[in-house]
Amino acid sequence: MFSQQPGPIGIFDSGYGGLTVFNKIREAMPDYDYIYLGDNARTPYGPRSFEVVYRFTRQAVMKLFSEGCQLVILACNTASAKALRTIQQCDLPELDPSRRVLGVIRPTVEMMDRISLTKHIGILGTSGTISSQSYSLEIEKMFPHITVTGEACPMWVPLVENNEFNSPGADYFVKKHLDHILSLDPEIDTLVLGCTHYPLLIDKIKQYLPSGITVFAQGEYVAESLKDYLNRHPEMDSRLTHQGKCRFLTTESAGKFSEAASVFLNDPIEVEQISID
Ligand code: DGL
Repeated sequence: MFSQQPGPIGIFDSGYGGLTVFNKIREAMPDYDYIYLGDNARTPYGPRSFEVVYRFTRQAVMKLFSEGCQLVILACNTASAKALRTIQQCDLPELDPSRRVLGVIRPTVEMMDRISLTKHIGILGTSGTISSQSYSLEIEKMFPHITVTGEACPMWVPLVENNEFNSPGADYFVKKHLDHILSLDPEIDTLVLGCTHYPLLIDKIKQYLPSGITVFAQGEYVAESLKDYLNRHPEMDSRLTHQGKCRFLTTESAGKFSEAASVFLNDPIEVEQISID
């Protein structure tokens, strides 16, 4: 059904947020080819049900497969939390068992023991990611000695998607959620940005954090883990093309995407508007 020719790595997010992960992956692996797909027309995914996030994510993965991607990274915590397992277990065996779809939660959890001294970690994420408990369950499996507290920050993605991440509204909502999570567990010494949009708010987050608390974005850990995965899976590496090319696809206006993406990326980019439903 899909081409078996070597192809680019697909990177998917509900909007612009995955560009923070894409940047780190491209920095770590500049020779590979990439297709970034942002479902900006239907963002945010955070408040949507399991069924809807799964349906939208599956459509995105199908699109990236049809564009020749043999490997797709769900650079979206909400999609990783709500759709990854079903795609891996139910869809891939039917669609093409040799293709791979990987998420961002596991690589983020793998580094957690290294980064906290008190072993009390806070996860900031969308309502969908936090209510799915994907982080707490994965941490419980891997590092049962770590205490995890989750905080849903439902306004943070809309602030980023609407280019309001430096506004007074951002100050209000950032402070509100930081105060709340730290009141739930005052021993937290590490906050993990469990949403790919949140690194855009990192300056504000640092501004309102008491000293002694470290904040972590996941991009570089996802990149490190992907590099390691490809070293351990040469059969997948040989199915990827290496010309250093990137394409950007969005379900919303191409002009709006390229303007907004300039906040994340240094070089001007060409964007194609597509439909995936
Ligand atoms: N950036 C995505 C994440 O990492 C989702 C944001 C959204 O669409 O709500 O969860």
